[in-house]
Formats: sequence, C-alpha cells, structure tokens
Amino acid sequence: TRSGSGGLRTPIVAVLGHVDHGKTSLLDKIRGSAVTQGESGAITQHIGATAVPLDVISDIAGGLVDPDDFDLPGLLFIDTPGHHSFSTLRSRGGALADIAILVVDVNDGFQPQTIEALDILKRTQTPFVVAANKIDTVPGWNTQEDGPIQASLDAQSDRTRERLDERIYSLIGELSDNDISSDMYWQVRDFQHNAGLVPLSALTGEGIPDLLTVLMGLSQRYMKEEMEIDTTGPGSGTVLEVTEERGFGTTLDVVLYDGTIRTDDTIVVGATNRTIETDVRALLQPRALSEIRTEKQFERTDEVSAAAGVKIAAPDLDDAIAGAPVRVVRDQTLDAVTDDVEAELAEIAVETDENGIVVKADTLGSLEAIANTLQETDIPIVRAEVGDVAARDVAVATTADEQRNRVILGFNVDVLADADDRADHEDIRVFQDDVIYQLVEEYEEYVAEIER
Ligand code: GTP
Ligand code: MG
Repeated sequence: TRSGSGGLRTPIVAVLGHVDHGKTSLLDKIRGSAVTQGESGAITQHIGATAVPLDVISDIAGGLVDPDDFDLPGLLFIDTPGHHSFSTLRSRGGALADIAILVVDVNDGFQPQTIEALDILKRTQTPFVVAANKIDTVPGWNTQEDGPIQASLDAQSDRTRERLDERIYSLIGELSDNDISSDMYWQVRDFQHNAGLVPLSALTGEGIPDLLTVLMGLSQRYMKEEMEIDTTGPGSGTVLEVTEERGFGTTLDVVLYDGTIRTDDTIVVGATNRTIETDVRALLQPRALSEIRTEKQFERTDEVSAAAGVKIAAPDLDDAIAGAPVRVVRDQTLDAVTDDVEAELAEIAVETDENGIVVKADTLGSLEAIANTLQETDIPIVRAEVGDVAARDVAVATTADEQRNRVILGFNVDVLADADDRADHEDIRVFQDDVIYQLVEEYEEYVAEIER
C-alpha cells in the first residue's frame, strides 16, 4: 500500500468523461494487461483508485517508456462514475488530481458530462490528455491488439483512416469550441497550452502504450515539484464518498494526497456546518486486484502513505460530507488542525442570500460548482447544503417571497419520501438532474413559464 518512495509521491491521475464513454474499461484494460505481463501482483487496488508502478507502465508501454528516464514511482488512477460529480476531486484550494484523462467516445463525441468535466479541468488548470476512445468501432477497423497507435494506423485501409480522421477532427473542433486548442499528441510541443489527443481502444488495448507514455511525460515534466512531499508527515486527504460498511458502520472513502495515516491516528473531518474529530478504528483496502464496488472483502492495514485511496472506519462519521477535507492530527495540536479544516470548509462554503432558492447536492465540490453557475446567472440562493432533499428543505422553500423561489434544485441526490409529499402539498417545485447546466436550464424554463 505504500506507493510513495524517495520523497516523490505517485502522481494522481483522474479519469473523467461522459457516462459509458469507457473510463472503467480503460482502467480494466491497464489492469488486465498487467495480468498478462505477469505483473498483476505489482498493481495495487485502492479504494476508488488503482496504483500502477513504473516498471509495469514501462512493460505495457513497450519501447515507449524507459524506466531509467523517470524517477516517479508510477501513477495512481482515480475512476469517477459518469454521473458522479468529479468536482469533488479537490484538495486544499485546488484540484486533487495532478493530471487527468478526458475520455471521449469517438462516435458519440462531446456530451454534457464531457463539457462539465472540461469546465472543471479548465477552472482548476489541471493538465490533461484526451483519450479518443473506441477507435475499434470505426467501420472497417483492423485491430492490432495492445499495440502502439502508429502500428494500428499503419494497418488501416485509406478509407478507414479517413473515417477515423473525420471523427478526430470533429473532436478537435469540439475542443476548440470550448476554448481548448488540441492536436494529435505527437504534434503537441507545449502540453501546458495544448491538449494532446490519443486515439485508443479500451477494448483492444491499441493506443494504451501511447496514453501511458504521454501521462508519464506530463507528470515528469510539469508535476515534479509538487511530487516532492514528505510522505511520512501527517496525512491530508479528500473524502470521495461516505458509505455504510457492514461491521464497520459509516466509513469514509478517502484519497490521501499528502503524508501518512495510521490506525492509531486522530483525524479531523469536514461535516455539514461543523468538523468531526475522531479516532481511526481501522484502515481498509480492497484485496489484491478486486474492485471496491463489486468485491466487499477488505484487508486491514496499519498505515497508508500518499498518494493512495483508503477506506477509513471510525466512530461519529455519520454527517461527514463528500468533498470535505480529512486531516491527521500529529505534530500539530487538535485546535490548529481543526482551524485548518474549518478554513478550508469556509473556502468552499456557498454564500447565501436573504431570498432565493434551495440547492442540494451530493458533494461539497458539486454544491460549489452549482452555486457558481447560479451566481453567474444571478439566481439567488437561500440555502445550499450537501445531502438528499429533506422535509426541512421544503419548509425553507415555503417561506419564499416569490413563486420563482419556491423551488428546490437537487443535483445527484434523492428526494426523501416525506419531503416529496410535503412539496406536493405545499406546491414547491423540485428539480433533479445530474448535469449542472441542464438543472439550471430546467429552472430557467420554469421561471420563464410562470412569469410569462
Ligand atoms: P460510467 O462509469 O457509467 O460513467 O461509464 P464508463 O465511462 O466507465 O464506461 P465503461 O467503461 O463502463 O464502458 C461502457 C461501455 O462501453 C461498456 O459496454 C464497454 O464494454 C464499452 N467500451 C468501453 N471502451 C470501449 C472500446 O474501446 N471499444 C468498444 N468497442 N467498446 C468499449
Ligand atoms: Mg465507470
């Protein structure tokens, strides 16, 4: 589980993109290739993440990555479900991920969540590569299993090459419409101002050697200083998810981006309107190469060092929130660490107005993203919180001064049954969506309708 070495921590790579565009398949393929290479033991499965060491990357990449050229320990990939708000992926004041892969289905092109992911990458200035996925579905494709993209391109007929080029050009066009200049990765000199495209297939593995090569190059070239951390210091992380675990109660799925966490540590965690201080009861990791979502078997571990994903079991975690900071109390006083967490929470907190709508979201990051969008559109917010739509939210909405404010927007959350009944009864409109701008659009259409 220790993935840091020599003071250089593993870069964190977020895998983002629209639902079904192939994020999980891509990671599965990388894991699967490692198994074929007889390297499966080297890859460690984390909570919500997969760590791939440098020598495995080098094996998969074939001649493209020479381990002697790099002194990073490998890469830690974080998978985000398409509907999940990746704006949760934040660390102290910035992006949790050092670099990102934006996965786009070449046939489907840009979709709402692609655009939302891109907005977040731009806002957090996270360098990224575009994985133009599913090239094997281009009509006439002649697959070159697991090979570098050049070998695949050479194996295609002129007609098939044209079909791929058409799709790639339209992606470059869509990126350009979103203010990102991009080109095939081998044409890109300055990766800080241009996004490199890697055509690949998560199914056949072609192009994946290139993707890993570009990611290693990016990390090495631009991330180096941020990687030099004290991996033995007190841990800092971000809550990805708050989940119930049988035998452990409420647990936190955390990405640790700095330092170390141990089973005898006290931690401070962000919650709704407060901070929680508690003692770690257990640190849990999935068993080797088993996926957290399907495999419920955990292994206890005594210590985890950044960068890593880990499940933390501790008392009192019930109202911890996704997207909130987690800090280990060691070397510093509890008060100092609590102040730190409070300051960070305040930074994410949404400013509310005297009159306005109620907003509920699944994570702190998504709440912040919606609030930004609403504020840009001059839509006032009276209450903004993480969590499902509850009866008390409806109660707040009923006090609104105008019809347009008798509204609750729910992003990626459920409406509890009693809240639903009460909203019906009190004539409160509840909108739900998992794409921010669609949610805001629905609201604007409603306002236009009632005020016509
Ligand atoms: P969410 O987690 O729901 O957001 O989706 P995802 O982006 O993780 O997509 P996933 O990897 O689950 O893939 C969705 C579907 O696309 C699956 O049926 C995959 O088998 C298929 N798929 C993914 N990559 C490829 C590819 O390169 N080629 C082909 N032909 N199919 C692919
Ligand atoms: Mg997935």
